[in-house]
Amino acid sequence: MKTRILVTGSNGQLGKTIKEISTDFTNSIVFVFLEKSELDITNNKDVEHFFQENKFNYCINCAAYTNVDLAETEIKKAFDVNAKAVENLAINCKTHNTTLIHVSTDYVFDGTKHTPYIESDITNPINTYGESKLLGEEYIKKHLDNYFIIRTSWLYSKFNKNFVKTIFNKLKMNEELSIITSQKGTPSSCSDLSNFIYFLITNDIKNYGTYHFSATGVTTWYGLALHISKFLNKSSNVKPIKNYPTKAQRPLYSVLNNNKVEELFKKPLKKWEESVDEVLEHLSKE
Ligand SMILES: NC(=O)c1ccc[n+]([C@@H]2O[C@H](COP(=O)([O-])OP(=O)(O)OC[C@H]3O[C@@H](n4cnc5c(N)ncnc54)[C@H](OP(=O)(O)O)[C@@H]3O)[C@@H](O)[C@H]2O)c1
Repeated sequence: MKTRILVTGSNGQLGKTIKEISTDFTNSIVFVFLEKSELDITNNKDVEHFFQENKFNYCINCAAYTNVDLAETEIKKAFDVNAKAVENLAINCKTHNTTLIHVSTDYVFDGTKHTPYIESDITNPINTYGESKLLGEEYIKKHLDNYFIIRTSWLYSKFNKNFVKTIFNKLKMNEELSIITSQKGTPSSCSDLSNFIYFLITNDIKNYGTYHFSATGVTTWYGLALHISKFLNKSSNVKPIKNYPTKAQRPLYSVLNNNKVEELFKKPLKKWEESVDEVLEHLSKE
C-alpha cells in the first residue's frame, strides 16, 4: 500500500519545495498538498473533519506564522497558528495514528551560547515568534510519541520571499546594501531540509524526537549577503553595519549542532555556501 502524506501550508517556501520534489516519489507515495485557503490549520473543526475523512501515515506541517517582526504586535495570531493549531494537529495525529513532521526554529534559543546548540539545550526565546514556536513544540510532545520536530535556521529557497532572493534581486538592480554583522547563524536550504524529511519517510525512520537541521558552517547576515554579491561580481555594493533596529529581538548566535541528524542520515550535510550557490545558479537563469 502507498504511504499517504498530508502537507499543510503547502504554499510556503518549504511546502512548495516539498511539492516540487514529490514528483520523484509518486510511485510509492500519495500526497495531499493543502494551502491555507484549502485548510486553515487554526480551524479546528475543518482539521478534525479532514483527518476523519482521510487516512494519513504522515502529516508534514509547513504552515506557520513566520513574520518575526509583525509577531510582536500580532501576538494572538502568531500563537494561534504556531501553537494552538499545532496542538490541534498533534491531537488529530494521535487519534488517527499519523506521524507528525513539524518544522521549528533556531529562535527557540536566546543566543547567549558560543558553541552550536544541541537539541537538549535549554530553550529561552527572546521574541514572540520564538515563544509561539516553542509552545507548539511543547504541545506536540505533550500529545504525541510519533513526531519529528525539526528545528532549522535562516531558511531560503528559490520560492517566495526570503533573504537570499531579496539580496540577489536588490544587487541585480545595483542597489547599495548595508547588512548587519551582529547575528551569527547558518543559512539552510529548503531543498536540503526537504531531502532530509523524505529520508525520514522513505526509510520508515522511527527514531522520533527533536532534531537540529541546518547546513554546516557559520556566517552572519552580512557574510551571506557578501557571498551573494561575490556570485554577482558586486561585492563593493555590500557594506557591513553593526546592527539595525527591528521590532523583534533576535538571538545573536543561533548556530545549530547537526550531529544527531548526521548520525541518522549517515552522510555529511552540505556547507552553507554550496547550498546557497545552488539557489543562486537557479535564480541567475530565471
Ligand atoms: N523562514 C525562515 O527563515 C525559517 C527559519 C527557521 C524555521 N522556519 C520554520 O520553517 C517552517 C517553514 O517556513 P517557511 O519559510 O516555508 O514559511 P512561509 O514561506 O512563510 O510559509 C508558511 C506558510 O504557512 C501558511 N499559513 C499561515 N497561516 C496558516 C494557517 N492558519 N493555516 C494554513 N496555512 C497557514 C502561509 O500562508 P500565507 O502566506 O497565505 O499566510 C504560508 O504559505 C515554519 O514552521 C517556520 O517557522 C522558518
